[in-house]
Amino acid sequence: MNIIKAKTYEELSAKAAVIIGAKILSKPSCVLGFATGGTPVGTYAELVRMYKEGVLDWSGVATYNLDEYYGNPVTDKNSYYYFMQQNLFKYVNIKQENTHLPNGMAKDAEEECARYEAAINAAGGIDLQLLGIGHNGHIGFNEPADAFAEITNHVKLTDSTINANSRYYANRDEVPKSALSMGIGTIMRARKILLLISGKDKAEIAQKALYGPVTPRVPASILQYHKHCTVILAVD
Ligand code: GLP
Repeated sequence: MNIIKAKTYEELSAKAAVIIGAKILSKPSCVLGFATGGTPVGTYAELVRMYKEGVLDWSGVATYNLDEYYGNPVTDKNSYYYFMQQNLFKYVNIKQENTHLPNGMAKDAEEECARYEAAINAAGGIDLQLLGIGHNGHIGFNEPADAFAEITNHVKLTDSTINANSRYYANRDEVPKSALSMGIGTIMRARKILLLISGKDKAEIAQKALYGPVTPRVPASILQYHKHCTVILAVD
C-alpha cells in the first residue's frame, strides 16, 4: 500500500483529484469506480474545478458506482444517483449513458446485481476505484461478515451504518435497510484503488484496516493485499 498523509481535508481532496485526473489524462476512455458519502465530496469539487479550467475532458470516461440503496427512487435526494448528479455529473461533460449505478428500484435485486457485475466486466473492468470507509471498516456497503462477498450483491445494512446514515434523513425509520453493492471481489479486481480516510473519528478504523490482520470482520483490511492501492489519510 502506498500511504500518503495529508494535513487537512482540503489537501486530501486535492491530492485525490490529481490522481483521478491523471488517470483521465493518461487514458481518456478510462473506466472509473466512484463512491459516495461525505469524504469524496471535496474530491469531486476539485475534479469539477479541473474540468472548468479546461484540464480534464470527461467525454470518453465511463463510471460505475460502488452501490445504491435498495427501494429508493433515483429522484429521492438521498439516492446515490442523486448524489452523483449533484456533486459531479451535472457539472462535467460526461455522457449520461456512460454513468452507471446499480438500479435500486429493480424488482429482482439478485438479477440486478448479476446484471451490474456483468456490465462492469463487459466494460473491461475498472481502471481506478475510489473508496471511502465506514466506521466499522465497510467499503461500498460490504459490512463486517464471516466471509468476503465475491460479486455485486444485495446487502442488509448493519445498525452502525443505518445510524451513521440517519444524519441525512428526518428520522431513523426512513433510512433504507438494504442496498445493492459491489462485492469485495468486484472491488479487488479494479486495476488501481484509491482509498480516502478523513476525520479523527476514522483514526481507529484506519489503524485496523491498514495495519491490522486481514479479516472480513474489517472489510477494508483486504486492501492490504491489493497490488496497486493508494491511501490518502487525514485523520490527525
Ligand atoms: C456509505 C457508503 C460508503 C462510504 C461510507 C462512509 O456507507 N456506502 O461508500 O464510504 O458511507 O461515508 P463518509 O465518507 O460519509 O464517512
